[in-house]
Amino acid sequence: MDLAAGLKGRHVLVTGASSGLGDHFARLCAASGAAVTVAARRRDRLDALVAALREAGAPRARAVSLDVADPDSVAAAFADLDAPLDVVVNNAGIAESGAAIDLPRDSFDRVIDTNLRGVWAVSTEAARAWRDAGRGGVIVNVASILGLRVAGGVGPYTVSKAAVVQLTQALALEWARYGIRVNALAPGYIGTDINRDFFETEPGRAMLKRIPMRRLGRPEDLDGAFLLLAGDASRWMTGATIPVDGGHLVSSL
Ligand code: NAI
Repeated sequence: MDLAAGLKGRHVLVTGASSGLGDHFARLCAASGAAVTVAARRRDRLDALVAALREAGAPRARAVSLDVADPDSVAAAFADLDAPLDVVVNNAGIAESGAAIDLPRDSFDRVIDTNLRGVWAVSTEAARAWRDAGRGGVIVNVASILGLRVAGGVGPYTVSKAAVVQLTQALALEWARYGIRVNALAPGYIGTDINRDFFETEPGRAMLKRIPMRRLGRPEDLDGAFLLLAGDASRWMTGATIPVDGGHLVSSL
């Protein structure tokens, strides 16, 4: 089965597409023949990505400004879409590291506002549009293995991602009747801006040794599961979270 064919001709919105996995997912969708709308706060980076996608022959690529933590910005971004969506990828996310006891007071709210409220705001906006238009849709949430197990020093992040796993199930349950499927990807550690500094440190290097496959993930390691969840091959899946992590979740206790 050609998983990429499941995206041909679809219109995909990718949040947080200005770097890392979001940038990668946008390129993958475009290479699979999808029209892609990339959304984030850093407009200059999005415009550069759109130019690269068009140069690579993408059928249609466009940027919209979006701060997922601001519901007004989410509504404005949806109003700015030039065509109905088929797939929404909730990828935008932040991490703040530090011992829970010492984190700044507003750290928890910042992480929850982006990683959880952001997914809620974008998903509900998309689902209302799909329901009102009498059409279905697909949502792929980018959770994390830290939503399924914990690690020290990233308390708010683990809580936000565990909530995304639960939200994936709650929305899947409510929206199956509208033909809207909601699933999540739970990546293990992939080298991007969000964690690059950490893997330069001794604890970071020690962590890599605890991954059964003994290496950091690469964005393209997620392609199979991403294309499965975003396309029709997963037509009877909803509420699922798929870990893609080099075996990290099954590391020895
Ligand atoms: P990244 O830092 O390169 O990308 C995150 C993107 O989200 C950035 O482009 C950032 O500008 C954007 N963003 C942050 N706040 C935003 C907001 N309020 N509104 C709109 N955009 C916003 O990091 P990475 O690794 O690409 O992260 C992408 C997603 O993957 C995140 O949800 C992250 O939690 C998740 N993830 C990453 C893993 C990794 O090891 N890199 C592992 C598991 C999950």
